[in-house]
Amino acid sequence: MEFNIPRSLKTEHEELHSKLVEASRAGGRTGDAAKAVAEVLYPHFEKEEGYALPPLGLLPLLAEGNISQDMANVIPMTERLKAEFPQMLRDHRLILAALQYLLEVAIKENMPEYAHLAENLILHNQTEEEVLYPASILIGEYLKLRLEK
Ligand SMILES: [Fe+2]
Ligand SMILES: [Fe+2]
Repeated sequence: MEFNIPRSLKTEHEELHSKLVEASRAGGRTGDAAKAVAEVLYPHFEKEEGYALPPLGLLPLLAEGNISQDMANVIPMTERLKAEFPQMLRDHRLILAALQYLLEVAIKENMPEYAHLAENLILHNQTEEEVLYPASILIGEYLKLRLEK
């Protein structure tokens, strides 16, 4: 069984990524600030796409009550996220600092598009911390309980 990141989340990551590439070519302090965001963001995105977000692809099946033994293979991913949760939050704090600077300079340099991008990314981190990471961890916890029987 393959564990795929929900299409909506994958698309969101791709859009944030391509917009950030565009921002990093904007020149000025805004361009430099966007590059600094990218430097801390990309390794973090890789971790998310590697193990934090793929378990979420199981949500619709689990909500329908469909459960199968091969779903147990997702547990190493959710366990890894659980173990690395504090590091993920530290990544977010670093990313947030870079985003706040991007927001500030984009406003000063009159590039509202990239100020908006910074706001979107700040919200994205928040959604992950409040909803997506905990949901991913809960999927593993739920499967451990259900598959024991
Ligand atoms: Fe993300
Ligand atoms: Fe994140």
